[in-house]
Amino acid sequence: EHRFVLAQSNHPILNIAHRGASAYAPEHTMISYKKALDMGADYLEIDLQQTKDGVLVAIHDSKLERTTNGKGRVKDYTYDQLKNLDAGSWFNRKYPEQAKESFEKESILSLEEIFAYFGRDQHYYIETKSPQSYKGMEENLLKLVDKYNIPEEHLLIESFSAKSLKSIHEKKPELSLIKLSLCRPSLQEIKEIKTYADGIGPRATCLDKGYIEKVHSQGLFLHAFTVNDKKAMGKLIHWGVDGLFTNNPDVLKDVIENQ
Ligand code: G3P
Ligand code: CA
Repeated sequence: EHRFVLAQSNHPILNIAHRGASAYAPEHTMISYKKALDMGADYLEIDLQQTKDGVLVAIHDSKLERTTNGKGRVKDYTYDQLKNLDAGSWFNRKYPEQAKESFEKESILSLEEIFAYFGRDQHYYIETKSPQSYKGMEENLLKLVDKYNIPEEHLLIESFSAKSLKSIHEKKPELSLIKLSLCRPSLQEIKEIKTYADGIGPRATCLDKGYIEKVHSQGLFLHAFTVNDKKAMGKLIHWGVDGLFTNNPDVLKDVIENQ
C-alpha cells in the first residue's frame, strides 16, 4: 500500500523540478526537463493546459503571451498550430545571463511527447491547470497514463482544483493526489482533502514546523512550492517537509545530500 508511505519519517525528500530546471532554461521545454534530470531531480513537474483539439500540452499559463511568440488562449488553437510557436526566445530576453541561442528552437510539448521521450521509468508530477475550462482533461490525462503504461508509483497528480482531483480519484483511486493551496489549508480543510488526496502542496512561505507536524499527524504528506534559495530549503527540510518544488534542482540536490 503506497498511500501515505511518503509521510513516514525516514523517506527521501523529493526533489521536484518545477517546470523543469526552469532557472536555467525556458520552462516546460525539452531542454528544461533534460537539464532537470541531469541535475538530479526526482520528478518532472508539468503544468497542463488543453488545446482546441483536446491535446494536453505542457504550459503554465492559459494564455500564450508570456512564454511563447503566440497570442491568445491555448484552448483556441489546435496542437499543430501551437507546435510552430517559439517557446524559448522569451527566456533569452528575460534572463540574458542564462540565454542560449539554441533555446530559440524550443517548442511547446504535448504530454504525449513527454511520455514518449522520457518513458515509464521517469517520475512525473502533473498539474491539471484551469480544469474548469477544459472538457475531458482528466480522462485525457488518464488515457495517456494508460497508453504509456506509467506505473502508479511514478506518478503524482496535483491541482488547485478539488473537483479535478476528486474526478481523478473516482476514476482511478490508486493514484496519489496532491491538493495545492495558495497558502495553507486549515485543519478542517485538511480533513476534507484526506477524503480524496494523499498530500498537500502549500506555498512554502506560509509554513512553520508546527503546521508541518499537524499535517503529518493527519496522515498526509506535504510538498511545498516554490523554493529556490539554499537557506530556505535547509530550514524546510529541517522542519520535516516531504518534498520541495524548485526551479534549481541542482541546489536542492546539494542541500539534501549535505543536510
Ligand atoms: O504546482 C506547484 C506550483 O507549481 C504551483 O504554482 O503557479 O507554479 O503552478 P504554479
Ligand atoms: Ca505547477
